[in-house]
Order: sequence, then structure tokens, then C-alpha cells
Amino acid sequence: MYSEKVMDHFANPRNVGEIPDADGIGKVGNPQCGDVMWLYIKVKDNIITDIKFKTFGCGAAIATSSMITEMAKGKTLDEAKKISRQDVATSLDGLPPQKLHCSNLASDALREAIKDYEAKKAAKA
Ligand code: FES
Repeated sequence: MYSEKVMDHFANPRNVGEIPDADGIGKVGNPQCGDVMWLYIKVKDNIITDIKFKTFGCGAAIATSSMITEMAKGKTLDEAKKISRQDVATSLDGLPPQKLHCSNLASDALREAIKDYEAKKAAKA
């Protein structure tokens, strides 16, 4: 069964959408089910100032996407990189074991978006 927090984030996902002038974009697919997530970040002074996501996936994927945007907003890039799929699952009061793989999407997409930002920044330097 899903926790109340998972149901809440699934029913009222936070930070849904797209940032048209994003500083970094991460797109990740889950090979186990074919679900896809896009994650957009705005970065200022090394801090994630805004973050949005679009997820075509199961309820657990949407809840973990929503939760990771709340966890990453306001964090430095180094702090955000350290958010693990386990941290996301724990913040949601757990996920059913067969749904744990769904939380990979969120943490991988966040890392990809940060990588994209860093690559763009290095290219400009
Ligand atoms: Fe695809 Fe959950 S079943 S991410």
C-alpha cells in the first residue's frame, strides 16, 4: 500500500511543468517500464532557485518526482547531487518494494539536469 504522503504528492504534485529558459534539463527513461521524466532547473550562485518536472509514469514516479523537486529547491548543487533515491523514498514514508525502482527516475533526472547545467556552464567559460 502507498503511504499518505505518496498519495498526497500523486494527487497534488508540486512543481509540475516546464521552465522554458531552464539552465539545465535532465531527461531520463526507466528501462524497466518505459516511463519518462523531464526535470528543469534554474541555478543562481550555485543554488537551485527553481525546479519543475514533467513525468509520464506511474503514481510512484509522479510522487517521487514531486518530492524531489521540494527536496532540491534552495539546495546547492553539491547538496542536491547527494539526494539519493533512498532519501526520496524515506521522505515519502516509504514505497512498496516493487515500486522502489520508480524512485530512480527522479534522482537520476535531477543528476542529469545538474550535469547538463555544468556542461553548459563549462562550454561558456
Ligand atoms: Fe514506471 Fe514506476 S512503473 S516508473
